Amino acid sequence: MSTIPEIRIHDQLSLPKLGIGTWEMGGRQKQDIQLDNHWINALMYALDAGIRHIDTAAIYGGGHTEELVGRAIKGFKREQLLITTKVSGDNLGRDMVRASAEKSLKRLETDYIDLFLVHWPNPAFPLSETMAAINQLLAQKTIRHFGLSNFPVHLIREVMQLTDAPIMTNQIEFNLLTRNKGSYNTGMEAEIIPFCQQNGISVTAWRPVMKGLLDPQRWPLIVSLARKYDRTVFQIALNWLISKPLVVAIPKMSDKKHIDENIAATQFVMQIHDHMLLDEMCN
Ligand SMILES: NC(=O)c1ccc[n+]([C@@H]2O[C@H](COP(=O)([O-])OP(=O)(O)OC[C@H]3O[C@@H](n4cnc5c(N)ncnc54)[C@H](OP(=O)(O)O)[C@@H]3O)[C@@H](O)[C@H]2O)c1
Repeated sequence: MSTIPEIRIHDQLSLPKLGIGTWEMGGRQKQDIQLDNHWINALMYALDAGIRHIDTAAIYGGGHTEELVGRAIKGFKREQLLITTKVSGDNLGRDMVRASAEKSLKRLETDYIDLFLVHWPNPAFPLSETMAAINQLLAQKTIRHFGLSNFPVHLIREVMQLTDAPIMTNQIEFNLLTRNKGSYNTGMEAEIIPFCQQNGISVTAWRPVMKGLLDPQRWPLIVSLARKYDRTVFQIALNWLISKPLVVAIPKMSDKKHIDENIAATQFVMQIHDHMLLDEMCN
């Protein structure tokens, strides 16, 4: 089993540099039970291999993904795991947030959620309402910590005014090839990440391995670094990401080869010069 490096957030939460994502395990928006055993085995394999952070969400598989996570973690010590789940941006009214957390607890078959995120901001709901519910869930210890996802800087600032609790993470799309133009955010590298770093908020990178799609022909630098360090191109991409201060990654991985490969990506150090070349590659 490998030891995955961890970072301390606001002196309260230890967050591993690598966790496992679960989008498309057990369906997309609707449940799909056909591959249940495959997903559960993948999650258990990852936990056995040293992963302890699982990222899921209320909407994944119409709730079924959380059920699969609940089944996969049964044989593991709950207190050693870090479960992140999210309330949908369509459910950010005060009672809706609390109801969503309760349903997640049931599906995950657990007593508490380690890290509870607002999946995306939605101007239809005042953030004051959402945060009132989150403050209450924190006070009741239903959720241990909270965070955001897909939030731009001005809304992170607004949240900071609405709670005494620290924002533990902002989960955003970010990878070697997607720097400032994401599906939901812009300016990730230019604005959001520096703001989070200045305020001690971790950045959880979603889509960190670009869905496993990278055309080596287009990126000779990545290929040459992969050769230099005797790693795969995805290990170079992941290592670049998680070497950044306060940045962690949650690739979805179900192929055992990918799980091993991604864990191994946390176990080597690239020279600063090479990091800088990769920094500049997409600018
Ligand atoms: N907050 C949000 O709005 C948001 C949005 C999207 C995603 N997320 C979270 O972020 C997680 C990751 O994002 P994602 O699933 O969209 O994209 P991703 O992690 O970049 O890509 C997952 C795909 O890459 C493959 N893969 C994993 N490791 C690989 C490797 N070393 N080499 C080659 N291919 C590899 C996986 O295949 P196998 O499964 O076959 O191993 C899977 O098909 C999600 O699962 C979800 O938990 C959050």
